[in-house]
Amino acid sequence: MLVTATDGNHGRAVARMAAHFGVGATVFVPVVMLPEIAARIADEGAKVVWVDGDYNDAVRCAAAFADDQPGRALVQDTAWAGYEQVPAWIVQGYQTLLDEIDTQLGGAPDLVAVPVGVGSLAEAVVRHYRRPGAAHPSVLSVEPDTAACVLASLTAARSTTVATAATVMTGLNCGTVSRSAWPVLRAGCDAAVAVSDEDALRAVADLGRVGVSSGPSGAAALAGARAALTEPVRRAALDLDDDAVVVLLSTEGHRHDRDQRNGPGPARRPGPHRLRQSRP
Ligand SMILES: Cc1ncc(COP(=O)(O)O)c(C=O)c1O
Repeated sequence: MLVTATDGNHGRAVARMAAHFGVGATVFVPVVMLPEIAARIADEGAKVVWVDGDYNDAVRCAAAFADDQPGRALVQDTAWAGYEQVPAWIVQGYQTLLDEIDTQLGGAPDLVAVPVGVGSLAEAVVRHYRRPGAAHPSVLSVEPDTAACVLASLTAARSTTVATAATVMTGLNCGTVSRSAWPVLRAGCDAAVAVSDEDALRAVADLGRVGVSSGPSGAAALAGARAALTEPVRRAALDLDDDAVVVLLSTEGHRHDRDQRNGPGPARRPGPHRLRQSRP
């Protein structure tokens, strides 16, 4: 059985692969997850377990559940001390996306804006564009202002956990940077910015007007590029010419749930499989 914790898309992907291989999946989700998103994970055939806590709590529950019995494999996209191999494979998998960008552009861009949750995707971007001999585009980390752990960590110059709150950018709602991503981002990320739900939803609408189907977590890249390029200090750090080629990684298509239509609602209620977990 595959086991994971998720704030959205990763859990759905693990559930789909478990169904593909016929091994079953248990997916732990934080209390703030939208029921519609949890339902999509369940629709892939996974058992969804609600955790009365945030993403970090869900990760702890998933790790404990996987450890509890043989035959359960934890597939987590964030690393911590003693759990680094699987996240490293996931970061390697993101490489395909970056190779495709370079192929389609005929070379590297000048700026890549990356939506960031735990930072694994951003880690892949930095690793790709900081390898020896590679072109050196600027890399911009974009997070929800309710879960800006990379921004807090870069500001403090040490990995810093932040308290999280509900956001329409559900795939990015993580309060701790992946252990493997942190040194890579600290060394190679040029700027970081946090964006509001309102900014992300405006970006969803603007992308929609030019024919790009995007959910708020994906459109965060546009919201972040806007915020950074209209703010003098970050703009200077990104070192762009007027004809710069900017890549916005839009990591999810349009969602048809309440959040994307109306913006954030009241605090979310947990589903029926609520699991209580005391914090360590
Ligand atoms: C929609 C979306 N965008 C981006 C990411 C990348 O986030 P991370 O920084 O956690 O690798 C994720 C992760 O699951 C996601 O669901």
